Amino acid sequence: MPTVDNPTEKTLAELGVNDAQGVAEKFAEVRTRFDRQVAFDADEIRSLMLHEAWLGSDSDPVTSLRNFWVGRKAGVLTMITENWLKKSPPSLKGVVGKQFNELKTHIETKLEEQRKRIEEKTEAAALNREQVDLSLPGVIRPVGSHHLIRQVFQEIEDIFFSIGFSIVEGPEIETPYYNFEALNIPEFHPVRDDMDTFYLELPKGAKTPLLLRTHTSPMQIRTMEKQKPPVRVIVPGKVYRRDNPDATHSFAFHQIEGLALDTDITFCDFTGTIEYFVKQFFGPSVKTRFRPSYFPFTEPSVEFDVSCPFCGGTGTAAAGGTCTKCKGAAWIELFGAGMVDPAVYGFVNYDAKKVSGFAFGIGIDRLAMLKYGVDDIQVFFQNDVRFLRQFP
Ligand code: FA5
Repeated sequence: MPTVDNPTEKTLAELGVNDAQGVAEKFAEVRTRFDRQVAFDADEIRSLMLHEAWLGSDSDPVTSLRNFWVGRKAGVLTMITENWLKKSPPSLKGVVGKQFNELKTHIETKLEEQRKRIEEKTEAAALNREQVDLSLPGVIRPVGSHHLIRQVFQEIEDIFFSIGFSIVEGPEIETPYYNFEALNIPEFHPVRDDMDTFYLELPKGAKTPLLLRTHTSPMQIRTMEKQKPPVRVIVPGKVYRRDNPDATHSFAFHQIEGLALDTDITFCDFTGTIEYFVKQFFGPSVKTRFRPSYFPFTEPSVEFDVSCPFCGGTGTAAAGGTCTKCKGAAWIELFGAGMVDPAVYGFVNYDAKKVSGFAFGIGIDRLAMLKYGVDDIQVFFQNDVRFLRQFP
């Protein structure tokens, strides 16, 4: 327990002081004690408080020290006034008063110096803490990369750029006229059943219904409306259908439309262009073939197949057994295409006798799956970095 006595709690008489020299000695004693304490830093004062009862008990040690010495109610200076000055015999009053004034000035000056010293030290410590160490390694932010679908778009775009095609883009929200009618798909045509889609809820009285486009083909019409032949464009973009999601179907997916029109484009130009694209994309060893198909806006229409790149067009897996990718067929269906149906020219005021051309619509997601061995289309939309990182 704390043991040190506080002499100012007693009168000078009680301390046995009865002359000027004794008074001077008592003041010197108090001053020495003060000087020792005021030189301490906060931590030292705290530990002193534990051992010396006469050091007060404020939670902040510096305040505690200050209160102890100059506190109004029971500070040492007040105690000296009460116990030494007021209660000293008249013969000693003068000397006690003089000593008291000197001590008071000394204590106040030193406490002020201490306050400044501690303040500066705290500020310096804070500045030190806040200093930026430029030699520390910076924050590493992972750099993203293009999504595989974006990469495949880019590959296809580059191939078509190299043979003179340019890019146009169009709205994802379309009117039935552009999505169907102008493409020779009248209302109630059965082909609309395959392209059931999302219609927008519009305010009552809206002039025309609006829908999310089911394919990029509406851009054939919009391009022809704006531009006279020659036309050589590709149209990358998102399309939507009310298809239930499974390994090869998504309700939102990607297509690239192609359209080439001029006065003398033949079926040979068409097959040559498509074969060039496929060999550039899959490599020169793949074989290609056409099968007759049907689209209301092309005539003749074809489905374009490629020899299965996984089994080399044999239908048999390398490890034996049936190739799981083409299911033994040796061919994989790639996309639909054809020569533009002359009926379509009627919607855009082209002269069907003079103009000819071809169009194609490539499903990008399935093409990407085929080239990069992805067996579920859903992974393209899940944003799982474990998948995305495989295609930096
Ligand atoms: C069309 O969309 C035609 N507009 C293509 C066309 C353009 C033909 C120009 C002639 C001339 P189709 O409905 O077959 O065609 O779709 C084209 C491709 O989109 C398909 O080969 C397939 O790869 C992809 N596809 C269709 N539905 C989905 C789906 N739900 N999820 C992912 N891909 C799909």
